[in-house]
Amino acid sequence: MENELIIVLDFGGQYNQLIARRVRECGVYCEVRSYRTPVEEIQKLAPKGIIFTGGPNSVYDESSPHIDKAVFELGIPILGICYGAQLMAYTLGGEVKTCTTSEYGKTDTVYDKTGKLFDLVPEKAVSWMSHTDYVAKVPKGFRITAHTANCPAAAFESVRRRLYAVQFHPEVNHTMFGMSMLDTFVKKICKCKANWNMKNYAKTAIAQLREKVGDGRALLALSGGVDSSVACALMAKAIGDRLTCVFVDHGFMRKNEGDEVEAAFRDSGVHFIRVDASERFMAKLTGVSDPETKRKLIGEEFIRVFEDEAKKIGKVDYLVQGTIYPDVIESGTGDAAVIKSHHNVGGLPACVDFREIIEPLRMLFKDEVRKLGTELGLADYLVWRQPFPGPGLAIRVLGEITPEKLEILRDADLIFREEIAKAKLDRDINQYFAVLTDMRSVGVMGDGRTYDYILALRGVTTSDFMTADFARIPYDVLESASVRIINEVKHINRVCYDVTSKPPATIEWE
Ligand code: XMP
Repeated sequence: MENELIIVLDFGGQYNQLIARRVRECGVYCEVRSYRTPVEEIQKLAPKGIIFTGGPNSVYDESSPHIDKAVFELGIPILGICYGAQLMAYTLGGEVKTCTTSEYGKTDTVYDKTGKLFDLVPEKAVSWMSHTDYVAKVPKGFRITAHTANCPAAAFESVRRRLYAVQFHPEVNHTMFGMSMLDTFVKKICKCKANWNMKNYAKTAIAQLREKVGDGRALLALSGGVDSSVACALMAKAIGDRLTCVFVDHGFMRKNEGDEVEAAFRDSGVHFIRVDASERFMAKLTGVSDPETKRKLIGEEFIRVFEDEAKKIGKVDYLVQGTIYPDVIESGTGDAAVIKSHHNVGGLPACVDFREIIEPLRMLFKDEVRKLGTELGLADYLVWRQPFPGPGLAIRVLGEITPEKLEILRDADLIFREEIAKAKLDRDINQYFAVLTDMRSVGVMGDGRTYDYILALRGVTTSDFMTADFARIPYDVLESASVRIINEVKHINRVCYDVTSKPPATIEWE
């Protein structure tokens, strides 16, 4: 079944991914493309609708992104958002000016209910604004369908030309009825049937993967994280025992985690290989305390182990990776400073002799990957697993790693996770874990003095893991975790909670 397509043309707005996710939540497949995409290519893609994102520029900046006027003549419905609205007005002969008062944040907005986008919107509601320019005059043939105190054209449309524009951000939750506007755009204006869901995706993807791989064989590096687990489940349904999954257990997994991954995949119909490489890794890391050195050594050793296993398996045709859509959108953008060398089991170099890479989740957002996992019958604990860094607990035992310290951290981390789950906070806090510091402090237990390790607990809320806030975990939950950890785990006599956001800190401590 061919997917109906909406494309989001990206003008550098910070919400490009969010808009695409919202459209998909409406049940319509949506892709983000650069504003530079030539009109002929857009025509070939034959989208049912186009959305222009916001962006940081003014249409009058010399370097600001513009658009070929021909796109407005395609007859495809277009929705311009923020900068996208200004660009539409400017390109079609309207007038854009700089606000005397910029609008930022929640803004009272008056809607004309006869505006095509506002069917289900009341006459007055709050919208979320973020702009310094505004449309002072709409192009000929357009009419204004919303306004605010400082923005005379908060929305405008030309029904005849199928062009719509909003100065505010319907994709942001703070815009009341924003989802209804997007839903109206894709279903009523673009006339999409909305059949994008993970059940359909699974069916189509399995058939396509089966055809692509044919009689060939594929290899997948399984970390037990949600992306590689779902990729594995999907490939297993497609090609069964012609898939080999290699799970490199570096010995830095959380309590019972290696066994859980094995239990989930051992009898799933794929060849599953668990490599216990803990001794190899420990030998490499003994005496090493610098975080970057640890990360690099683990990354390299991972590749060596994988390479050894791949050699044993022999020639494979395909390498499967769990790349997901945000990685695709973000790849190649920016050359930011390296804060940490991320070790990613997906990022294997050309150490394996294969013909092609398959990325079956390449077009999916994280929430879709989770839904797909459930659709494919994966257990909840795999589907809802919080992110876990490739180097594992090796970067949560600060400084030099020893088997004893790893054991202490495993036990403490499990208790913290249990208490969070007991308080039913496990789906609200995006990542939470324990860190064993290499500091010791004095305490008193029974009648005696103790001199033992300080453990730190970390919990963060975040949508993208690029920025994060510390989670406001209730004191009584922190207290029960702390009491249990001190009572049940030897060699910890003090527990702290990390109240730093990112930036300036990072989520992991190393
Ligand atoms: P930081 O500490 O950089 O972490 O704020 C951001 C997110 O990335 C995860 N993380 C990693 N994931 N390989 C991974 O696959 C890594 O080497 C790695 N290091 C950090 C971290 O857990 C958080 O979710």
